[in-house]
Amino acid sequence: MSNASDDSVSKIRVSSNRLSKSRPRPIIIDTDPGQDDAVAIMLALACPEEIEVLGITAVAGNVPLPLTVKNALSIVQLCQRTDVPVFAGCDRPMVRPLVTAEYVHGATGLNGSGLGDPAQEAADGHAVDFIITTLLAERDQKVTICALGPLTNIATALEREPAIAAQIEEIVMMGGGLFEGGNVTPGAEFNIYVDPQAAAIVFGSGLALVLMPLDVTHKALTTPERIEAFRALGSPAGNCVAGMLGFFERFDVEKYGSVGGPLHDPTVIAYLLDPNVLTGRLCNVEIETESELTMGTTVIDWWNVTDRPNNCLVFGDIDAEAFFALLVERIAFLTH
Ligand code: BDR
Ligand code: CA
Repeated sequence: MSNASDDSVSKIRVSSNRLSKSRPRPIIIDTDPGQDDAVAIMLALACPEEIEVLGITAVAGNVPLPLTVKNALSIVQLCQRTDVPVFAGCDRPMVRPLVTAEYVHGATGLNGSGLGDPAQEAADGHAVDFIITTLLAERDQKVTICALGPLTNIATALEREPAIAAQIEEIVMMGGGLFEGGNVTPGAEFNIYVDPQAAAIVFGSGLALVLMPLDVTHKALTTPERIEAFRALGSPAGNCVAGMLGFFERFDVEKYGSVGGPLHDPTVIAYLLDPNVLTGRLCNVEIETESELTMGTTVIDWWNVTDRPNNCLVFGDIDAEAFFALLVERIAFLTH
C-alpha cells in the first residue's frame, strides 16, 4: 500500500487483530528492563485472556545482561507469574561494543521500583535457543515477538535458524524515530543505535513488522496525575509502577522540558490490546549501518518518496489519554 491515510491503515490492522481474538495471542517478550520495559511486561502479564506470554528473553541494553535478567525475574515475581520463564540472551551487540543507559534508568535499570533481589534464577539455556525451539514447536497459532530492546537476540535467532520466520506472526518493536529524530544521537534512537546490524537483519527479513518510534512514545508522557493514578490503585504493582515512573521521567523532563517522561515500551503491548489508540501507515524502513554520523538511524519513507517496498507498519500518533486509561485499568488486575 502506498501513501495510505493514517485512518485506513489503522482500520485494516484493527480488523485483522480482531479475527484472532478467540484465544490468547502467544507472544515472546524480548527486553532489556528498564522501567518502561518493566511496565510493558506487567501490562502483558495482567492480560492473560488476551495475551499468553510464552517466555521473556533478556538482552543487554539499558543495563548489562546480568541486570536485565535479574530485573525481568523481579517483575515476574512481583506479578506472581514465576511460571513464565526468563532466559538470558546475548550480552553484547552483534558487531559493535555495548552501549548502556544508566544515565536514564539508574544503576540497576529499575531504580525507583523498590524491588529487591528475585528468589528465582533464569531458566536453563540461552534465550536465542528458547526463541528458536519455541517457534519451531508445533502449535496452531503463530507467535508474535514483542521487541522492547536492542534486536540482538531476535536477529541472532533469525540468522541461526531461518525456518523460524514462517512461525512468526509479526514482530512488534519499540525503536527508531522520524520527525522526533533520535534520543542517543541526533539521528538514532537507543534500541536501534545499540545494535544497528541486528536491526538491519530484522528490517530486511521480509517478516510482518510493526514499529513504535519516538514519534509515538514522546506523545505518551507520564504526567504527575497519570503517575498518581497508578499509586491510587493501592497495590504493590501500582506502587511499583508509580515509583519507577517517578524516577524514570526525571531525565526526559530535564532534557526536553516536558511535563513528564515518555513511556516507550508499553506502547508495544498496547498495540496488541487495543490498536485503536494508535494511528500509522505502511512504509519502507531501512537502517543506517555505515555512517558513524548517522549510525542506527531508521530511514523511514513516511511520504513514499522512494520506490522501495513497504516493509513495516510505522505508527506516528497515539491517543495518550486512552493509552494511560488502558494501562491503569489493566495494571489494576495485578492485585498483589
Ligand atoms: C528505548 O530505549 C530504552 O531506554 C527504553 O527502554 C526504550 O526501549 C527508548 O529509546
Ligand atoms: Ca527497552
